[in-house]
Amino acid sequence: MVERELKTEHLKADADGIARAAQLLRDGVLVSFPTETVYGLGADATNDTAVARIFEAKGRPHFNPLIVHLPSLDAVAHYADLTGVARDLAHAFWPGPLTLVLPLKSNGPLSALVSAGLPTVAIRVPAHPLAQALLTQAGVPVAAPSANPSGRISPSTAQHVLDGLSGRIEAVLDGGPCDVGVESTILGIEPSPVLLRPGGLPVEALEAALGGPLAIRDDGAAISAPGQLTSHYAPAARVRLNAEAARPDERLLGFGDVDADLNLSPSGDLVEAAANLFGYLHRLDADGEAPIAVSPVPDHGLGRAINDRLQRAAAPRD
Ligand code: TXA
Ligand code: MG
Repeated sequence: MVERELKTEHLKADADGIARAAQLLRDGVLVSFPTETVYGLGADATNDTAVARIFEAKGRPHFNPLIVHLPSLDAVAHYADLTGVARDLAHAFWPGPLTLVLPLKSNGPLSALVSAGLPTVAIRVPAHPLAQALLTQAGVPVAAPSANPSGRISPSTAQHVLDGLSGRIEAVLDGGPCDVGVESTILGIEPSPVLLRPGGLPVEALEAALGGPLAIRDDGAAISAPGQLTSHYAPAARVRLNAEAARPDERLLGFGDVDADLNLSPSGDLVEAAANLFGYLHRLDADGEAPIAVSPVPDHGLGRAINDRLQRAAAPRD
């Protein structure tokens, strides 16, 4: 893939460093920042291109959904529905190492790529003071997976981040080592609480708050094999891949220099195509039932993740 050549800024944990990091996030580029669990690789969660760059920088072959980081519980209402038991748990454990998977607010401002097209969104309010300061100053919700290249272990120091991603991200905000060192605990809420990933908040603490044992999702593969989750969303229309042109009854989701109903990237830019992918699939779905033909997308760089997602959308279903 065409990699962006960057000089990664190593920002200090002072007012200037935080201000610079916040500005870069608002500008739509990538900043790694410390949380109490691990370092995250942050991007403006409302900016499709910024979110697509996360997958590019990590070299992820799948679009798995990302956690959205917010400075406070009050900010959640813009993006997701926080009610009932989820609200109680948020009050009990935020800020802290707990991620809640909540119903996505319809027509909210988040990039569809953040949720990988799912109707839910994972939200977390980190406790780390630098993360708090950065999120408050940035003023945008920040999507952030762990700041490691795909398939490598999560970073707990700024040096780990640089070892894996130097030259691929704009900056890292150095807050020293993370206290917790393992990722947040992830809890699904609908229809009832279920542990999706054990993590920094002990299960016992959740069970005490819930007043009983917590269900554990048995198809844990969905979490350990990123991307599996995305198979939950496919357009209602049939999808035909590697189409040079649309047949008379089809609509064309184009890529590159083709005459299409919607074009992922007329110039053939894979970052732009990834940024548009989920939004365009949703639009085609909303616009009708005619089958969707999709132009060939090169199978390198972000194109691998795009093709992985398209193959799921095109897979036979019953
Ligand atoms: O501690 C953490 O959680 C760190 C810091 C940076 O916040 N982040 C982190 O992100 O571990 P990541 O991308 O490495 O893991 C996020 C997990 C993935 O396994 C993903 O499948 C799951 O969260 N996830 C995200 N959105 C989801 C959703 N809507 N439904 C179910 N699982 C979701
Ligand atoms: Mg990770």
